Amino acid sequence: MAIAVGMVPQAKQAILDALRNRRTCRSFTSEPVPRGVVDAMLEAATWAPNHRLTNPWRFFVVENGGPVRHKIAELVHEWTYQNVKNPNEERRVQSAEQAKQEVLIAPVMLYVFTVPGRDEEETTENYAATCCAVQNLQIAAHAHGVAVGWSTGKPAKPAALPSLLGADPSWRLVAALFSGYPAQELKQERKPVSEVTKWL
Ligand SMILES: Cc1cc2nc3c(=O)[nH]c(=O)nc-3n(C[C@H](O)[C@H](O)[C@H](O)COP(=O)(O)O)c2cc1C
Repeated sequence: MAIAVGMVPQAKQAILDALRNRRTCRSFTSEPVPRGVVDAMLEAATWAPNHRLTNPWRFFVVENGGPVRHKIAELVHEWTYQNVKNPNEERRVQSAEQAKQEVLIAPVMLYVFTVPGRDEEETTENYAATCCAVQNLQIAAHAHGVAVGWSTGKPAKPAALPSLLGADPSWRLVAALFSGYPAQELKQERKPVSEVTKWL
């Protein structure tokens, strides 16, 4: 049967629905995410476009309850206390504790880095490709009913983080990702295409 312009077969429509319905999430149930699902998310990430096939992404999976997760939580606590200025000492302590708890309780925590290229142009391409990889990962997670929260904030800030993970000092941190089965329903809006597009 011929398909009208603008229509896609039902199976492919699921892809478009995923693009639209995936939502950033930072609150998760305590249900663990099976390792196979995390592997599937990572595998999907590696199918992102990447110029000259540099495979520029590097992933770290930080297990829940493990010693590295605890160390990261302490670093994030310290960074938040030192850097998120609040004249109210009680609020400052609360904010640091909250950031620490978020790291401790997330069922899955991932860090994504990108490697530098041979020159500035390739380094930029590698960064862009790694961002595509993160989005692939988020969409694959969505397909498994798992949500992701991408952060470049507190959980990504401590200077000691890359060495703690074992990342090369030349790599750039692209994303700290919290992940798990969502415990919140979030809505988002976007500007209409007509507002951000010029046809020439
Ligand atoms: C590069 C990048 C960095 C982000 N960093 C943060 C962050 O530090 N904290 C946060 O709450 N959300 C962060 N986000 C998530 C965005 O806030 C989120 O994508 C946006 O609110 C739109 O929501 P949606 O993803 O549900 O469509 C980041 C997203 C991207 C792409």
